[in-house]
Order: sequence, then structure tokens, then C-alpha cells
Amino acid sequence: MISCEDCPLCEGRQNIVMPDGDPQSPVAFVGEAPGADEDRLGKPFVGKSGKVLSRLMEEVGLARSSVFITNTVKCRPPNNRDPTSKEMEACYPRLEQELKDRKLIIALGRSAAKDLIGRDVKMGSEANTMIPVMIAGNEIKVLIAYHPAATFYSRKALESLKNSIEIAKEYMPSK
Ligand code: URA
Repeated sequence: MISCEDCPLCEGRQNIVMPDGDPQSPVAFVGEAPGADEDRLGKPFVGKSGKVLSRLMEEVGLARSSVFITNTVKCRPPNNRDPTSKEMEACYPRLEQELKDRKLIIALGRSAAKDLIGRDVKMGSEANTMIPVMIAGNEIKVLIAYHPAATFYSRKALESLKNSIEIAKEYMPSK
């Protein structure tokens, strides 16, 4: 994507943060929105949250380069606020195309889960539950997971996210 002015997030961005990883992967991780590092470098999950995600993937034995990684919105919201429903809606046609042929989608955090499932989730009781969702006419499993940033101060979130990544690994072709 070279340019986009579909929502006001275009006004403050440095870069449009397009997906990373294997475009053909059966497994996609969907984050909330780019942060400052992602905006600067134009890649998803390259900052502090990304480091946690990469480390957990390494511990589980799931190569980061073998999965698809994207965000609900491709541009950084000012001051790292949550993306609004309108902004997520404006970016959804792109996300839908990115996700329509996946076997499993891991929704990282409440914003991603809300965007994909269409309702608020309670992370404490719903993390690691699987919800079937229609995406561009295909039924796809969405796994609700903690956002990596939630693990900074919570052991429970860290262990839960690691478990989500273990579940994701089961959806990868065995070597
Ligand atoms: N947090 C997100 O949700 N996505 C990123 O790409 C980085 C941090």
C-alpha cells in the first residue's frame, strides 16, 4: 500500500505498517495497532511488545518468519491510544483480504478480538477460547489471546499467551 487516506490516522503516521512474515501461512497473528517503533520502521511488532512475542515464539519453537503478522489498523494512533471502531472499520477490508484463507487467527488483545469477533471480550475468562468467525465468506477460527503488552506485569497473561502460541503451533504443517 503506497498511500491511504481512508481514516484520520493517516495524518499522524510516518509509515503505513504492512504485514510481516509468511503471506501463505495458515496461521495469522493480529495485533491492535502500530506503536512508535513500528511507525518509525514500517514493520509490525518490532518494539517492546514484539520482543516478547518473538521470545515466546522462540521458546515454543514456532518460527516468527513462518507465521503472518498484522494489525487491525495499519497506522499508529496518536499517543498509542486504542484504535476507534471507525478506524478499525475503515481498515477492515484490508484485514479481511489478509485473513480470509487462514486456518487460525490469533487475536492479540481486546481491540483485535473485538474487531474480529464483533463484541467485547473478557480476557480473564475468555483467553484461549476459540470462536468461529465468518471472514469474506469463510468460517475461520479465531483464538482470543492476551496482547503481549499485557504480559509486562502479569505472569498469568504471559503464561496464557505462551499457551496461545502453543495452540497456534498445532495449526502449522508438521515438518
Ligand atoms: N502492538 C500492537 O498491537 N501491534 C504492533 O505492531 C506493535 C505493538
